[in-house]
Amino acid sequence: MKNFNLTHRIVMAPMARMRSYGNVPQPHVALYYSQRTTPGGLLISEATGVSETAMAYQNMPGIWRKEQIQAWKPIVDAVHSHGGVFFCQLWHAGRVSHRDCQPNGEAPVSSTDKPFVEDPSNEFTPPRRLRTDEIPTIVNDFRLAARNAIEAGFDGVELHGAHGYLLDQFMKDSVNDRTDRYGGSLENRCRFALQVIEAVSNEIGPDRVGIRLSPFANYMESGDSDPKRLGLYMANSLNRFEILYCHMVEPRMKTASEIFECTESLTPMRKAFNGAFIVAGGYTREDGNKAVAEERTDLVAYGRLFLANPDLPRRFELDAPLNKYDRPSFYSSDHVVGYTDYPFLDTTDQ
Ligand SMILES: Cc1cc2nc3c(=O)[nH]c(=O)nc-3n(C[C@H](O)[C@H](O)[C@H](O)COP(=O)(O)O)c2cc1C
Repeated sequence: MKNFNLTHRIVMAPMARMRSYGNVPQPHVALYYSQRTTPGGLLISEATGVSETAMAYQNMPGIWRKEQIQAWKPIVDAVHSHGGVFFCQLWHAGRVSHRDCQPNGEAPVSSTDKPFVEDPSNEFTPPRRLRTDEIPTIVNDFRLAARNAIEAGFDGVELHGAHGYLLDQFMKDSVNDRTDRYGGSLENRCRFALQVIEAVSNEIGPDRVGIRLSPFANYMESGDSDPKRLGLYMANSLNRFEILYCHMVEPRMKTASEIFECTESLTPMRKAFNGAFIVAGGYTREDGNKAVAEERTDLVAYGRLFLANPDLPRRFELDAPLNKYDRPSFYSSDHVVGYTDYPFLDTTDQ
């Protein structure tokens, strides 16, 4: 696989687990990731905030403070000691946030000042539209966070450009209503994400950079009127920077957890992009194998199955039964239950 020194194609998808109290990753996080590590296997961390204004939910980790960098070090070391390759997912929530999670109780920032249409429990504070001259500051926050991730020992970073968060809020025409050079045309809407890619690639080297995109998704009221064109434009533009990988969420994942029948596919983007391609969203052992066999992807990322099966690659190898995931504990703050207590396969009788 291009530029990627991996021993298998099963990737751990990024998953927020909300167990990093005070935005600082904790010792139990090391156990969780190391349980899921295989020699030469790729793991992508949970979404990790690039700055104070990037934050949304409670107990998400960050990587902008010294203390956070120090706290990540033993976690990354634990993964490395088991032979894993570990990328940090860098994240800015944008308008998917509340003033209680923001510095000085201010409104979250976004590409827009449009609030959510549907927000019955007032989960989100109406955002403040970033001024054009503020955008370089956010690009710089990503650059510094990438540098911090490398200092913490990560092998690279994945920019979170999916699921309705800040980068996606700029790319999608249902959210971006700007009239400056960051809004309007497709080229303008993608400018911010590509500037982040460029800054981060210059900082740590493009061979340590990936991006996650979900052009077809509509999460957090962030949809696009022409997702195929958006996906293709991004895949082609990323080639300029020669980044390591492009990670795309399947069109069938229109919402975060349900799979929809659909005729759209990621194949045009896979063909357009020159680096390694990762797909995610509703994959099983069988259709993951099929996607690889048909050369529709290089790697397959598994979310919920990996969450519930720390030894997922081993189970796939043996075609062994899988543990079922427990949805209520996905985002609970317990540092053991539903986190590090999923059983490993008992292989004593095999
Ligand atoms: C508990 C949980 C947390 C998630 N957090 C993130 C995240 O931090 N970043 C991200 O890009 N996707 C996140 N996702 C989406 C997953 O990476 C993945 O795309 C999704 O679960 C679909 O894949 P699956 O069917 O293999 O689970 C999360 C999913 C779950 C279940």
